[in-house]
Amino acid sequence: MGYQVDSYLKGRDFISIHDFTVEEVAYILQVAVDLKSLQKKKIAHPLLTGKTLAMIFQKASTRTRVAFEVGMYQLGGHALFLSPRDIQLGRGETIYDTARVLTRMVDGIMIRTFEHAEVLELARASFVPVINGLTDLLHPTQVIGDLLTILEHKKELKGLKLAFVGDGNNVAHSLLFGAAKTGINMVIASPGGYEPDPAILEKAREDAALTGSQLSILSDPWEAVKDADVIYTDVWSSMGQEEDAAEKEEHFLKFQVNRHLLSHAATDAIVLHCLPAKRGKEITDEVMDGPQSVVFEEAENRLHAHKAIMALIM
Ligand code: CP
Ligand code: NVA
Repeated sequence: MGYQVDSYLKGRDFISIHDFTVEEVAYILQVAVDLKSLQKKKIAHPLLTGKTLAMIFQKASTRTRVAFEVGMYQLGGHALFLSPRDIQLGRGETIYDTARVLTRMVDGIMIRTFEHAEVLELARASFVPVINGLTDLLHPTQVIGDLLTILEHKKELKGLKLAFVGDGNNVAHSLLFGAAKTGINMVIASPGGYEPDPAILEKAREDAALTGSQLSILSDPWEAVKDADVIYTDVWSSMGQEEDAAEKEEHFLKFQVNRHLLSHAATDAIVLHCLPAKRGKEITDEVMDGPQSVVFEEAENRLHAHKAIMALIM
């Protein structure tokens, strides 16, 4: 019979980790662990034979695209890359019409775009599951891979301290939800004016109340990383927000993840970065290529995480 997954998440959209219960997030992670192990042992797991995923990319991608495309292949299905240059969405066809058409031909739609509202609109118009492959607000598939990476290194998530140092962006937002759902204590250190969205923090705190996770926002990176088990950073200017990058950089200089900052964390702390990195800006080469960095394992884990998400909802 081979490896099977429970069907209770079939048909669900994957737009935010906040939309899933504590148990559902734990199950997604368990399936990611299982699928990774099967893949490493070269045991076939064709859970999506004959199924097709449409992937709409309005922004660039290396990891997300490759992880979905390869993941779909490994699950026995097929993925289609749709860039704005090639599809009519780029010429002004509406999200609604695009969704109505795709829904008749494919079994799932992944979208990476700017406005989060577009993903919500796509999901409303679509009869097949929609996966958020990154918006300006959230990056949930990233965080499933990140949680898998942390779990592999630390064996248990609950009670860990994760320090996110940098811009309170899409990745920081999804990490807040991921931490809250799994009982990780998370501290974000951002320069004034670049803190995470208070509405996201409020929702994450609702989730945190269920797991006992503590979430806090600071402006001092040294205090944030003190005794942390996991240090996380991301670019200071996200895709689509690069125009004021130079000006922004001045505010972020003391938020660089370098050897000095890392020395304040736990001695066995691991360093994560969703990538792509601007080496020498938010993270030094020394840390990124150093013994505590797990950034490339983290990138690989996108594959296993995406497979779990697709296998469960499609
Ligand atoms: N981390 C991440 O989403 O990478 P890509 O932009 O390359 O997909
Ligand atoms: N915050 C970054 C993440 C890239 C994967 C961005 O949105 O550009």
